[in-house]
Amino acid sequence: MSDDPWASADLAGRFVDGAYASVKGYVRTYVLHRQLLEHLPQPPATVLDVGGGAGHQSFPLAQAGYDVTLLDSSPAMLDKARQRLQRLPDEARRRVTLVQADGENADEAVQGRRFDAVLCHGVLGYLEQPEPLVNQLCQCTADGGVVSIMTGNAKASAVRPALERRWDDALASFDATTEIGVLGVSGRADTVEELSELTRSRGVEPLRWYGVWLFVDWLEFSGAELDPTDSPQVAATAAVELEASRRDPYRQLSRVFHLVGRKKLQADD
Ligand SMILES: C[S@@+](CC[C@H](N)C(=O)[O-])C[C@H]1O[C@@H](n2cnc3c(N)ncnc32)[C@H](O)[C@@H]1O
Repeated sequence: MSDDPWASADLAGRFVDGAYASVKGYVRTYVLHRQLLEHLPQPPATVLDVGGGAGHQSFPLAQAGYDVTLLDSSPAMLDKARQRLQRLPDEARRRVTLVQADGENADEAVQGRRFDAVLCHGVLGYLEQPEPLVNQLCQCTADGGVVSIMTGNAKASAVRPALERRWDDALASFDATTEIGVLGVSGRADTVEELSELTRSRGVEPLRWYGVWLFVDWLEFSGAELDPTDSPQVAATAAVELEASRRDPYRQLSRVFHLVGRKKLQADD
């Protein structure tokens, strides 16, 4: 039996071809991309995407001129990334390197290289503890570089069970830090405050945090069907989600958050 959890029950396929084919998937990529561009240096700059999966977040950056290294522990997800890579124009494809490794060994796997930006989106929740991976993210970032982490929002844990009208679960979940996620895998969530403290203690000063999706999530969990082929509607939805992701109180209720920090320059010490 494979010890790649993303190969079992076609988890890789359900994530890549299912979750990302939905309106929610589109909103996630769009909102994160726009938030990232507020902080990334101009291309060409180097980006390491840890737990980068099939490249939904970093391949658009390669197309925008960034030099991307996608590191992932799952051969099944890297196969998906290879397939998606074939669809990129030659020039963008040449800017992408795939590396199979555990994020906890990222520094060794990239041979001590330092990157202008290190991304880690939707990965921390699968790990028992965030510290070992966050250590590596901060370590692989060049001085003055950007760290971008997206993970589950522990403070919004009652949202999903409540919208699914599982009231007992919702009541029990207010102080919970784990839940079964939409892919059916148990996940852990973090708080903005704790994650900020974690990066700060590793030399990465939090700059800003955002929500990711809100209304599309609520609509989906309450049973509405959103049509991913209705491009004008999808674009209008994404514009509203982007605005909500930047503001209180909306961002506080998003089930996932996006934290962006900058690594201190040596001269700041
Ligand atoms: C939900 S997917 C997110 C993929 C991608 N970051 C995105 O936003 O589309 C989670 C990914 O994290 C990877 N992953 C989980 N644990 C990991 C670890 N310890 N080191 C490296 N990758 C890991 C999985 O193989 C999977 O590709």
